[in-house]
Amino acid sequence: MVRPTDAREKGDRRSCRSTMDARCGDGEAHRVAVAVLYGSESGATQGWAEMAASKLRQHGLDAHARRLDDEGARALAVASNGRAWTLFLVSTAGKGDAPSGARSFWRCLRRKWIPNHLLRRAKCAVLALGDSAYLEYNYFGKRLHNRLVKLGAHMAVPLRLGDAQEEGGHLAAVEDWLDEARRAILDDLGGRAPSWREETPRYRVVVHQTCDASELEGDETELLREPHEAGAAFRRLATWAPRLMAEEDLAENEMEVLAALRSTERTEREINVQVKSNECIASGGDVPKVHHVVFTRDPGEVQATSERPVDENESRSEMHRTDTSEEGKNGLVYGGGEVVFDAGDPSANGRTFEEGQQDQATDRVLPMYRAGDCVAVYPETMCKDVHRLLDRLRINGSYLTTVQLNPEHFGRCASEPPPPIKFIAPLEVWFQGALDVGSAAPQGSFFEAMAQFATAQHEKDRLRLLATREGHTTRTEYCDGERRTVAEILCEDFPSVRPTMPWLFHASPRLRARLFSAASAWADSPSQVALTATLSEWTTPFGRARTGLFARWIQGVKRGKVVRIEIVGADGDISRFVKQSLHRPLLLVATGAGIAPVRAFARERLLLHGSTVPTAVVFGCRRRQCDFLHASAWASESQLGLFRHGGAFVLACSRDGASKVYVQHRIKQHARRIWDFTKHGGCIFVCGGSTTGMPDAVALALEQVAQQVGGLSQEESRSWRQDLVRKGRYCVEAWT
Ligand SMILES: Cc1cc2nc3c(=O)[nH]c(=O)nc-3n(C[C@H](O)[C@H](O)[C@H](O)COP(=O)(O)OP(=O)(O)OC[C@H]3O[C@@H](n4cnc5c(N)ncnc54)[C@H](O)[C@@H]3O)c2cc1C
Ligand SMILES: Cc1cc2nc3c(=O)[nH]c(=O)nc-3n(C[C@H](O)[C@H](O)[C@H](O)COP(=O)(O)O)c2cc1C
Repeated sequence: MVRPTDAREKGDRRSCRSTMDARCGDGEAHRVAVAVLYGSESGATQGWAEMAASKLRQHGLDAHARRLDDEGARALAVASNGRAWTLFLVSTAGKGDAPSGARSFWRCLRRKWIPNHLLRRAKCAVLALGDSAYLEYNYFGKRLHNRLVKLGAHMAVPLRLGDAQEEGGHLAAVEDWLDEARRAILDDLGGRAPSWREETPRYRVVVHQTCDASELEGDETELLREPHEAGAAFRRLATWAPRLMAEEDLAENEMEVLAALRSTERTEREINVQVKSNECIASGGDVPKVHHVVFTRDPGEVQATSERPVDENESRSEMHRTDTSEEGKNGLVYGGGEVVFDAGDPSANGRTFEEGQQDQATDRVLPMYRAGDCVAVYPETMCKDVHRLLDRLRINGSYLTTVQLNPEHFGRCASEPPPPIKFIAPLEVWFQGALDVGSAAPQGSFFEAMAQFATAQHEKDRLRLLATREGHTTRTEYCDGERRTVAEILCEDFPSVRPTMPWLFHASPRLRARLFSAASAWADSPSQVALTATLSEWTTPFGRARTGLFARWIQGVKRGKVVRIEIVGADGDISRFVKQSLHRPLLLVATGAGIAPVRAFARERLLLHGSTVPTAVVFGCRRRQCDFLHASAWASESQLGLFRHGGAFVLACSRDGASKVYVQHRIKQHARRIWDFTKHGGCIFVCGGSTTGMPDAVALALEQVAQQVGGLSQEESRSWRQDLVRKGRYCVEAWT
């Protein structure tokens, strides 16, 4: 660990004048509460926030990382009286949106009735972590900063924008900004630097060399057997932070701030679901594998179905059988790779939201979700990777292992000690459910921690280099770009490193949830949610074939398995679009797994409106026989009248004919119909992988439609489309 050595800091220790002087026992340090608040969509910024808090603690400050939605309001309340500092680390998600874990806080902070002087005594700093490859570069961080300024907060450090494209990546921005923030805090303390404290691991981890739980059970002890239980328990430990201030200790004006900023909304929470079905619905040749997975909250639904393992070929042939029979019955038009489902019988209908809501009293019902919402799924680390690592460390994975929070990590000055609860699970179960040692590339702090345990000097030197910003390029090449994992790093490249379990638990990447758009409608079946996922495979710059963790894990998941998920509400553009499009004609354009939210839109419209509002779908795949996703479902929805009143289902297959046909070509072929849709107040939703350039090609095709049929000039057609975006009638959801 690096100790502070610069002259300025040594000098800083001389004088003592503090406004936040609450001395805590045996003269260790002043209690300067620093709330390191983060908003993080996929976990990177959370990691930086934890690193920042850890560095500040080493400087004797009482700093802990906290999620904005959980503690943002309380932190600003305390800060509004000058009793704490608030440091914000936020990423930007979607198209300039607030990331997960910051959304309800952000909604509260923007309340119009909040007085402009609310935060006039609060001391804050914002670090925005984004990527300049996106048009809305660090947009959320900038907005947050501006809002805090408007509410009177004192920004002790200028807004810093961290760019993933920059040399040094986000580490450079985090280090510079943190240095400035720490100096500002110390200046505020009258130049007095609290004493240096060596960082200790966050967890106490004891491997018991027994598999017999009866020897270990006791008070405050919870025994866990399954990876999903260990994952949930570990996340509880990993996100715990001492409360900034008990509510009864808040001053009256602090209570006012808390009341102004506190959210009454539901924030995402993890729940257990069971896998009801898991089918491979596209595969073969040059077509990426796609899985359709249905989760249910109601175990009865799983038992009601047979326990046969999933048969890939069977499910695919079933899909095509249904498809072919519908083709004859419904007058489905097929020609040249294009399929148009037309009107069927509109009388049939599913259940309404109201009917579904009546069931919500039961705990067999999922939180309500809408089209455009997502399901976050926690995958597990593959047993193969866990055993490889544990074999290298020569530890028996079936030994029961106790994990609890380490009070020393939180410092003697923390306002409350960590809860004494201990969780016990076999060591391999901890690794499977909680730690990502077989897929994620670890952050610099992992190398810093491992350097302590290297007995070979050249390994120690290299690990130290990999932890620094000077080593950023080396780390990017060696680790990030290659997706080199903890198991690979320790098993292959650093044989002299034998870390202790507490440090391995502390420094390894945690398993993070993967986001998927809901591919089902809650009103259809409030106990179920489905996803349609393309399995990610890619080749690294050094030619190593990689498969995503979710992609590897889901292929082995059987019916009945319990999985942890969260329902994640859509924000920004999508939720606005959902409201806008409810009663209007709707054009849905999708490629590949982009069909997932399109299915949710289609089901919701059938359930809410029957077939009264026109809907059209343009779907792009490679081969009709391989990856025409949910073909039979579209056929039956056509029967239910989804495509009445000028609607249609149009298919573009890029590899079935002599020339490639994409969704943009189909849009131009159906120009008149599409122009009619938009002229009648229609909305357009485009969804699919961003790497293919599909969203841009669709935008151009639509502008060409406006020129050809609507008679607009090129410029007019562009502003026509931009106007649709502004009005919330044109929405693109693209992911890599
Ligand atoms: C809001 C939202 C909704 C989504 N909805 C869907 C959906 O409905 N269906 C769907 O299929 N997907 C969807 N996605 C994308 C999905 O979340 C990812 O494909 C998924 O997380 C992949 O998980 P994984 O564990 O298999 O891959 P991970 O291991 O998490 O890898 C993630 C991706 O990074 C890429 N990657 C990682 N490292 C490298 C590297 N070094 N070089 C090159 N590429 C690399 C891979 O291509 C991979 O796709 C959505 C994403 C978001 C943000
Ligand atoms: C779907 C998606 C959308 C993104 N949108 C933006 C954006 O609009 N502006 C930006 O600066 N960065 C954007 N980013 C980049 C992230 O902000 C950046 O990768 C950040 O490090 C993610 O941190 P997190 O894991 O804490 O959310 C986006 C990333 C993804 C995956």
